[in-house]
Amino acid sequence: MTISSTLSGIAQGSAPSLPTHRVPDSIGQRPRRLRSTAAIRSMVAETRLDPAEFILPLFAVEGLDAPREISSMPGVHQHTKASLQKAVHEAADAEVGAVMLFATPAHRDPYGSEAWNPHGILAEAVRWSVEAEPDLPVVADVCLDEFTDHGHCGVLAPDGTIDNDATLPLYAEMSCVLADAGAAMLGPSGMMDGQIGVIRDALDQAGHTDTVLMAYSAKYASGFFGPFREAVDCQLVGDRRTYQQDPANVIEGLREVELDLEQGADIVMVKPAMAYLDVLAAARQISNVPVAAYMVSGEYAMIEFAAKAGAIDRKRCILEALTGVKRAGASMIVNYWSTEVAHWLRG
Ligand code: PBG
Repeated sequence: MTISSTLSGIAQGSAPSLPTHRVPDSIGQRPRRLRSTAAIRSMVAETRLDPAEFILPLFAVEGLDAPREISSMPGVHQHTKASLQKAVHEAADAEVGAVMLFATPAHRDPYGSEAWNPHGILAEAVRWSVEAEPDLPVVADVCLDEFTDHGHCGVLAPDGTIDNDATLPLYAEMSCVLADAGAAMLGPSGMMDGQIGVIRDALDQAGHTDTVLMAYSAKYASGFFGPFREAVDCQLVGDRRTYQQDPANVIEGLREVELDLEQGADIVMVKPAMAYLDVLAAARQISNVPVAAYMVSGEYAMIEFAAKAGAIDRKRCILEALTGVKRAGASMIVNYWSTEVAHWLRG
């Protein structure tokens, strides 16, 4: 309806009679002024997304013939060497900050020994990425869950519980192998006590004094990791509640952050992101290093499937979610949309 037709509608008496409460002559504060045009809104924006702060996770699978889409993560693939290198090129071209690599081996055992095989799939994937884009930092995941036949992040004691201290030397060896392969950063994600200190010590001993440790400090036992289990074909039965944190706790998360800082973490992480923004904001307050957030597989899936169902505007909600995570205190955001969003932001 045009304005004139509206006015003529009113003139014809079809409008309801409107309330006439008194409005002050002067409304002192008018915050809407700063929202009045796109240019002004942009000028006063307190938070801006930058692709340099994005980290793109990628999945390599040993023995795969062709890339395979992960059904619970539409648009995300398990990669072969060729498709991984293509994705790495695309991320670098879009000026994404880094890639983060996960890998699925052809053979698993109770110790996850392929994790520290210098020619295992994860070390190879690191080499493929570095070969494709030598200047793009590679973050390699340090954890055994993709490699163990029981799917836990650590090795098991005879009684079936997680053997924290027996796991640490395996993480240390895995870290040295991945640093040797060319990983500029390592992301220890297994939530074993003492892991950052043991890994830092082993790296220093091996001469890898420049390897950045991005510690998954406050990592919660989350249902939002669901699609990731498909992505890496995880064998887990049960859950990770004896090592990952209770979603109810924030003080405990901050304790984990403090411990990782004491042990030599260069970056601390909160994961997942959207249900833990209070943890992220609090971690930002107490840490003197950058704080990363990981928008995990289930957060990706929620937005993708809701958009596919026509319930939400995909692009708008992706940008809103990333902005919220950054606003809460993330210096960098691990997310599966990194390359696409980088194009939106640069374009
Ligand atoms: C453990 C690891 C997991 C994720 C990243 N590292 C799975 C888990 O802890 O169960 C989840 C990432 C995601 O859901 O996107 N190696």
